Amino acid sequence: MLKAAELTLEEMGDLAEIIPAADPVVRLSYQTIPSFDHRVRRTVIPVCEPTLGGNELKYIQQAVETNWISSAGSFIRDFEASFAAYCGARYGIACANGTVAMHLAMATLGLEPGDEVIVPTFTMIATINAVTYCGATPVLVDCEPDYWQMDVEQVAAKITPRTKAIVPVHIYGHPVDMDPLMELAQRHGITVIEDAAEAHGAEYKGRRAGSLGDAAGFSFYGNKIITTGEGGMITTDNRELARLAWNLRDHAFSSERHFWHKYVGFNYRMTNLQAAVGLAQVEQLDKFVAARRANAGEYSCRLYGIPGITTPRQAEWAKNVFWMYGILVDKQAYGLSRDELRAVLAENGIETRTFFIPMHCQPVYWNAFKGQRYPVAERLCRDGLYLPSASSLTLDEIEFVTGVIREACPHL
Ligand SMILES: Cc1ncc(COP(=O)(O)O)c(C=O)c1O
Repeated sequence: MLKAAELTLEEMGDLAEIIPAADPVVRLSYQTIPSFDHRVRRTVIPVCEPTLGGNELKYIQQAVETNWISSAGSFIRDFEASFAAYCGARYGIACANGTVAMHLAMATLGLEPGDEVIVPTFTMIATINAVTYCGATPVLVDCEPDYWQMDVEQVAAKITPRTKAIVPVHIYGHPVDMDPLMELAQRHGITVIEDAAEAHGAEYKGRRAGSLGDAAGFSFYGNKIITTGEGGMITTDNRELARLAWNLRDHAFSSERHFWHKYVGFNYRMTNLQAAVGLAQVEQLDKFVAARRANAGEYSCRLYGIPGITTPRQAEWAKNVFWMYGILVDKQAYGLSRDELRAVLAENGIETRTFFIPMHCQPVYWNAFKGQRYPVAERLCRDGLYLPSASSLTLDEIEFVTGVIREACPHL
């Protein structure tokens, strides 16, 4: 097990100032454990929740009635095919969660110790852990300040002869500027694996996330735009990569004879029960994406003009899916810090989350990236929070949340 050297906030120097205060809404989060009693559930507006309004139960019942509940069965194939087609990719390889989707995709590259993989420092830790599981070395870049995505110019500066892969992460559902990244990668013969865990349906110049790199990893965790409870998928057009991933996912069983293994494989399988839910969710994905875009528009209209609140921007080449609707809070201009605003929102039963803490600030990676600074990611970490963002969020709820933010501003 990799473990952090004991690291205190004091030892982090001025970097400690960007780390969010002890969470004011941890208690609140526990109250949001799903209850199907609508009155109880709505005492708190959760930051996210699944929307299960389609064929989920029907398909699960079919899986149970036909006795196919483990990791073989037609729902797995149907879910793989339908989600890959939705993304515009040829193959889908379903697996246990988004973290192992990323690990499996990287494992197919045969990464070795000493190989380097370029990842953004501003991401969720699973992105970089997947590199670490392969024994390779993560190399960090900052994000650009406009859309909060991986800074492609910095990627160019970090390429070395050891660079084997680049991992653009479509943060919060906005795509990375992929054309210059792919051009750069192709020039150097480097594989690009999108981390699309947060970006189901996001579009870059009319093409969907999951079809933009050499391969992509998705998450279907309960807070994602579509969910299977736990789950993940690789999408790719590369037949060899897909074949290897299917094989490695399943202990690398050999087709020649039973219990004959040529690779160290994994058990990263998804069950037919999960895939039954997944297939029902894909059927509703267009509807969920439309709801999130509409909700983001409502949020941005209502937050417009509040001093010190920055709402998310969308590049003209992008269609964001707003997995999370994030804002930045400038303490000086707004009059309260991000954490103070969070506390006010929590008092009103509104659950929020702070933005990611960058990888170079994590205790477990502190020594690996000691002394490195990434100012955009640090600013996002200090000032960013995301508001309730579920596909099922109502206009009343958006009005309530934005009303609380407006009223809490001492300057209005
Ligand atoms: C960017 C990113 N990558 C990877 C993951 C990992 O997905 P999972 O939680 O399904 O393992 C997440 C999950 O939240 C994520 O946000």
